[in-house]
Amino acid sequence: MRESGHDVRVVPTQSALEFVGRATWEALSGNPVTTTVFDDVHEVAHVRIAQHAQLIVVAPATANVLAKAACGIADDLLTSTLLMATAPVVFAPAMHTEMWHHPATQANVSTLRDRGALVVEPASGRLTGVDSGPGRLPEAAALAEICEVVLDRGSVSADLAGKRVVISAGGTREPLDPVRFLGNRSSGRQGWALAAAAVARGAHVDVVSANVDLPDPAGANVVSVGTGEELHKAVLELSGAADVVIMAAAVADFRPDHVSKGKIKKTDDDSVPHISLVRTVDVLAELGTSGGDRPLLVGFAAETVDPGPQLVGLAAHKLASKGADLIVANSVGVDRGFESAVNAVTIVSASGVERDIPSTSKAGIANAVWDVVLQHLPRAGDQ
Ligand SMILES: Cc1cc2nc3c(=O)[nH]c(=O)nc-3n(C[C@H](O)[C@H](O)[C@H](O)COP(=O)(O)O)c2cc1C
Repeated sequence: MRESGHDVRVVPTQSALEFVGRATWEALSGNPVTTTVFDDVHEVAHVRIAQHAQLIVVAPATANVLAKAACGIADDLLTSTLLMATAPVVFAPAMHTEMWHHPATQANVSTLRDRGALVVEPASGRLTGVDSGPGRLPEAAALAEICEVVLDRGSVSADLAGKRVVISAGGTREPLDPVRFLGNRSSGRQGWALAAAAVARGAHVDVVSANVDLPDPAGANVVSVGTGEELHKAVLELSGAADVVIMAAAVADFRPDHVSKGKIKKTDDDSVPHISLVRTVDVLAELGTSGGDRPLLVGFAAETVDPGPQLVGLAAHKLASKGADLIVANSVGVDRGFESAVNAVTIVSASGVERDIPSTSKAGIANAVWDVVLQHLPRAGDQ
């Protein structure tokens, strides 16, 4: 978080210092570190820290801290700061599976969620010792992503609660031979930000990930695929139960019609192989024209034109030809869009431009996309 430009104040519990010492936290955060309200009393640290914070993240949140926070106990600097907090609070629980599933912990989590805190589901995997299961702390980068979307919104509200969303992310790879493929430069970052924002807003999130070299998003279910055909199959399978499908992956439009069994070799006569391509399945168009009770469909259009009427025109054409409900169009080039941390997009529906978002973080774009999606989702009670 500090590397992303944020001012970070670390407030460990006394037990936390058994694992990582005060000096490490002070050096990494660039701020003083204390565990008790009785240090620097003239500054009344719990009041000052809580009032100054735009976001409070408890990571890892122990079963003990969750219990104390749920009860309103304030016997150290962290729990006193939590009681003072008016900023959004994110808890990232980490503990053994049995502790996580214990009714006491689950009741505490419900209480904290009911009070408006965001409690991220722990990841599944290796725990302390040889055990593995649900209870693992998500990767730090994945938690940072959640923090960025909450900071961008300035609040935690579960306005996507009860919704199932499917997000495809990354770029497909179409094999040419056992060692080569046709691919693209999509990093998956925008899809990851969309997933983090949807998790933060309370949705059930399935991510179909094509060759993304980032830690799994916190609180989402990830299905990994390689080729366009694998992505097609996975998205179709998951979309049956979904309210929203966002196709943020860059899926190959063409693939080699033949995959060489052996590595294609250079020959002595300087000749080059000719690769013949065939069209791949257009997943968005297939879903968009499937008719019946289908999820709300959002496509991404990465176009190599400047933002403006030409970009909007291309997006409107894509919207109509694919039968999508929304198209998020962005202008890509060597230095913008793919792989970069910031992006500028225009969201287009059948009624025209819904939202023009000038260059902002991918977290900002993700929140804006979900805002527009929510306006297009049937509300409870609608026909
Ligand atoms: C090696 C070790 C690992 C632990 N891991 C966890 C853990 O992941 N989650 C948890 O809730 N408690 C864990 N505990 C227990 C806590 O450290 C203990 O409940 C402590 O009192 C928590 O204090 P705090 O919530 O004030 O930080 C662990 C203890 C040890 C010795």
